[in-house]
Amino acid sequence: MATVYPFWLGGVAASLASCCTHPLDLTKVRMQTIKAAPGAKLPSMFFVLRKSIVQQGLRGVYTGLTASLLRQMSYSLVRIGTYEELKRRLSQNGKPSSAQLLAAASLAGGLGGVAGNPADILLVRMTSDVIKPQEHRFNYSNAVSGLMSLAKQEGVKGMTRGLGTNVARAMLMNASQVCSYDLFKSALMHKTIPVLEYQLKDNIALHILSSLLAGTFATTVCSPADVLRTRVMTSTSNDSVFHILQTSLQKEGPKFLFKGWTPAFFRLGPNTVLLFVFFEQLKKGWSALQLD
Ligand SMILES: *[C@@H]1O[C@H](CO)[C@@H](O)[C@H](O)[C@H]1NC(C)=O
Ligand SMILES: *[C@@H]1O[C@H](CO)[C@@H](O)[C@H](O)[C@H]1NC(C)=O
Ligand SMILES: *[C@@H]1O[C@H](CO)[C@@H](O)[C@H](O)[C@H]1NC(C)=O
Repeated sequence: MATVYPFWLGGVAASLASCCTHPLDLTKVRMQTIKAAPGAKLPSMFFVLRKSIVQQGLRGVYTGLTASLLRQMSYSLVRIGTYEELKRRLSQNGKPSSAQLLAAASLAGGLGGVAGNPADILLVRMTSDVIKPQEHRFNYSNAVSGLMSLAKQEGVKGMTRGLGTNVARAMLMNASQVCSYDLFKSALMHKTIPVLEYQLKDNIALHILSSLLAGTFATTVCSPADVLRTRVMTSTSNDSVFHILQTSLQKEGPKFLFKGWTPAFFRLGPNTVLLFVFFEQLKKGWSALQLD
């Protein structure tokens, strides 16, 4: 009989992973928030990261960590918990197909996006507060008091701000990674034969290269939804996402949809690996506890 792991184990693993990658998350949100004219040079990831450290010290790059933890304990907990449960149920009648797993991952991602929306709002607001003029700041001191003032001041409508873009991003993330991984892998194995004059082996180097390409693809595909989500969540106006898209396009050009791409890309690899490693260790620890 296989051990049934508690549904919250994935959320704990994701929290541990996000403690390591939070500075990149913060840099991404800051880059997405900065507005610049079409021709203007955008600040690079290193510039934004360095400026954060110069202004606030090393503790500064951990601003909003409590919101990040709240996000993992809602978004990731529901996402991973739902996915593992769906996978377990699908496996009861034999091995599930890739299409079934993909549908399960998308559904799980969507539900996670709904559950994590308030925490996502707090995360983008807390991390981008210092780069805004004083009178536009939210001044949330931590995720819990932030959640209370968000609920009190903006109600249910405020807590569901950016929900559509957030769910779209959450569903796209896994799907674009999983599908493009298989496509890149088979293209590398078969389409390169005429050029290289031999077939690449199905080994770890090929897997790493395919994951790298899949990560690049997923980051690019999800970037527009991610930038829009950040902008909708940091605003306090009643403007719709389409209005925000339209005015940002007019003022900044289509390039704005890919702001924060670099830190999002650098975050994806380490975050995926760390999440996997922590999750496996926690599962091992849990099994050991059950046997004693
Ligand atoms: C996303 O897809 C991978 C397969 O590449 C799978 O192992 C992982 O558990 C999925 N994550 C979720 C929870 O959607
Ligand atoms: C946050 O604090 C600044 C002063 O430091 C103030 O101008 C601003 O109105 C405050 N924001 C809110 C939402 O209370
Ligand atoms: C948003 O709309 C609500 C009513 O739908 C209104 O009470 C509120 O003042 C509006 N907020 C802004 C900033 O326009």
